Amino acid sequence: MAKQTILDVDVQGKQVLVRVDYNVPVEYVDGDPRITDDTRIRASLPTVQNLVKRGARVVLMSHLGRPKGKANPKLSLRPIADRLSYLTQTRVSFANDCVGAAAENCVNSLRDGDVLLLENLRFHPEEEKNDPSFSQQLARLGDVYVNDAFGTAHRAHASTEGVAHLIRERAIGFLMEKELHFLGEELENPARPFVVILGGAKVSDKIGVIDHLLSKADAILIGGAMAYTFYLAQGKPVGKSLVEPDRVELARKALEKAAAQGIDLLLPVDSYVVESIDFENRQTSPGRYTRPGEEIPEGWRGVDIGAATLAAMRQEIAGARTLFWNGPMGVFEIRGCDKGTFAVAEMVAENRDAVSIVGGGDSVKALHQSGLADRITFISTGGGASLEFLEGKPLPGISVIPDKVEQEANQKASPSSDEGSNVVLLPA
Ligand code: 3PG
Repeated sequence: MAKQTILDVDVQGKQVLVRVDYNVPVEYVDGDPRITDDTRIRASLPTVQNLVKRGARVVLMSHLGRPKGKANPKLSLRPIADRLSYLTQTRVSFANDCVGAAAENCVNSLRDGDVLLLENLRFHPEEEKNDPSFSQQLARLGDVYVNDAFGTAHRAHASTEGVAHLIRERAIGFLMEKELHFLGEELENPARPFVVILGGAKVSDKIGVIDHLLSKADAILIGGAMAYTFYLAQGKPVGKSLVEPDRVELARKALEKAAAQGIDLLLPVDSYVVESIDFENRQTSPGRYTRPGEEIPEGWRGVDIGAATLAAMRQEIAGARTLFWNGPMGVFEIRGCDKGTFAVAEMVAENRDAVSIVGGGDSVKALHQSGLADRITFISTGGGASLEFLEGKPLPGISVIPDKVEQEANQKASPSSDEGSNVVLLPA
């Protein structure tokens, strides 16, 4: 069921409280902040600009990092306000706190079309606890609540869930709408063949997605260290490769389910192996490729997929009409172990006949680094959120936004919602 979007709500002259996900990487060099990837800020622009154009008083709120409930200057959102200002070519003001007098004074001085960004929500421990009185303080800042933070929609926090119950008019933004369209509708009824490529270190991160997509995909291609936990499930030696022994049973069940359903679950047939790896200095001992079908040698660990695996993947990927890719094929952060990931990035980008959807930090980074991002149909801004969504779990930040018809019915049932304050007070 489609969710109410900002286009369904009259925002002219109203304070519109928008949850965005500006959890972006910020590095400090000689005391100066540098945003090393502003994709998430750019992704929020269509919503922000639409609200500005329609005369809303836009109040943006986000978290940055995990400050554990304490103010931390290095996790301040102030540099994000500057970047947003630059990107929108309009003044974006900044409130030193996300609640209380500091926030309320800034919000009250907004004029129609102005934009304000509040300081990091997670400087208050109550945010992650979904504390009702903190939610109420946030609710004082908006007549309308908008959730456009897909990346945080799997968290039931005050700004993503609690506050939404306290503001009658609620909607999703354009970014959230796009995420739901591509990860939801496009993958629910995919053009076939539908090929899923999953990588990364841990089976535990992806097993829910594998399980859910086994009933939808035509083929699932597995790379990254998690492939070696599948090897264990098949009784194959893995040398010193990274594995999760407590997930072997789950991997075995997934293999059985794939076989029973006639789904190709493709594991690597060759690997790039090394004897040692130094994560701190980002280097490995000299490596070599195993021959197709050769076991991982004792004392060695697999750190990337090999050429024969890539050839098999190429065939599946080239013939697909829907592609979903999440997770690197090897230890992508170390040069020499990143070839498989870059090769997959190219294969996905090369298939222009398919709807291609990519999520997850390293896969997206590989696309950007190879200059291929604009050849992908949709790049998700969600990490954990997109995985939980693809496991079929309801995400609290989405569930709390009414479906289109539900909101219409509510408005008819409570005509007083148009009069005065839109904030619903909690019982004392
Ligand atoms: C993310 O980067 O995945 C989101 O912003 C959520 O961040 P969190 O995992 O710290 O809740």
